[in-house]
Amino acid sequence: MPLPAKVKIVEVGPRDGLQNEKQVVPTEIKIELINRLADAGLSVIEATSFVSPKWVPQMGDNAAVLQGIRRNPASTYTALTPNLQGFDGAVQAGASQVAIFGAASESFSQKNINCSIAESLKRFEPIVSAASALEIPVRGYVSCVVGCPYEGAIDPQKTAEVAKILFDMGCYEVSLGDTIGVGNPASIQRMIDTCAKLIPIEKLAGHYHDTYGMAIANIYASLEMGMAVFDSSIAGLGGCPYAKGASGNVATEDVVYLLQGLGIETGIDLAKLAAIGDWISNAINRPNGAKAGRALCSGTE
Ligand code: HMG
Ligand code: MG
Repeated sequence: MPLPAKVKIVEVGPRDGLQNEKQVVPTEIKIELINRLADAGLSVIEATSFVSPKWVPQMGDNAAVLQGIRRNPASTYTALTPNLQGFDGAVQAGASQVAIFGAASESFSQKNINCSIAESLKRFEPIVSAASALEIPVRGYVSCVVGCPYEGAIDPQKTAEVAKILFDMGCYEVSLGDTIGVGNPASIQRMIDTCAKLIPIEKLAGHYHDTYGMAIANIYASLEMGMAVFDSSIAGLGGCPYAKGASGNVATEDVVYLLQGLGIETGIDLAKLAAIGDWISNAINRPNGAKAGRALCSGTE
């Protein structure tokens, strides 16, 4: 199969990247980050999450972030919503899209959202109905698509089942999360192959954390299967508060560098992106996790 000519990148740095930062990141920095990412050509930016501030204090300024950003008409600003309370908050703050998030692992579901997989899917139904009435698109996430920090390897069939339920519920796209970055090209391709038997590949996205350094290889393996949507995080920011030891998402700079090299269109300005990665890493006093970003900023490309 030829590689896709065009790829959509969903920038999750402001949410997945920052949610795990121990020090509170000032709201103005988050707003500035989102504005700069939109200027660099990111067409979908996951800006924040409307989860319990007791569970994830870093996202407690969710409404202020969404209300403070400059809306770029070319960008969509989305937020995670685990329940109707979160959905209402996101809509009031002006989210143009929301995402519901389930898991293929029972233990992870309990640790992350305090309920079973079945309960979570029931909880998502009213969100999707409310969103449909307001014509707000809903994205679905499945976590632990190949491995779980508590249960080990996950059966691809389980991942596909949960993904299919989210898709049938009305999610326009389902993002497959390798939450702890344990996947490799073989396990990722097996998992995608199983999911794509139930859901068209154009409706699936890859969300790969880079704990074992496999994320770029996993993206290439996914491109080979025809996948054309990937989630990534500027400067490779992040981790997961409920997945100990997990590192950040694959860095957006590295993904764009790969795609440019393959002649795949993204609409993203890599030089601007690298500068943003450098800026945010300094702003939150963290090493820049993007290899391409570091190389571009030091002039050794
Ligand atoms: P719970 O404690 O079971 O909820 O948490 P509850 O309904 O029993 O309510 C308890 C309290 O929370 C109440 O407040 C509610 O008002 C409040 P109290 O009366 O005690 O003062 N509450 C809320 N507050 C604000 N916004 C809300 C909300 N809902 C309830 N939406 C809940 C259940 C889902 C809320 C909780 O478990 C939670 O917030 N979990 C968030 C977990 C999270 O954000 N994880 C990280 C994101 S997922 C991820 O990173 C994976 C992903 O990147 C893909 C991948 O990599 O695999 C997406
Ligand atoms: Mg994630």
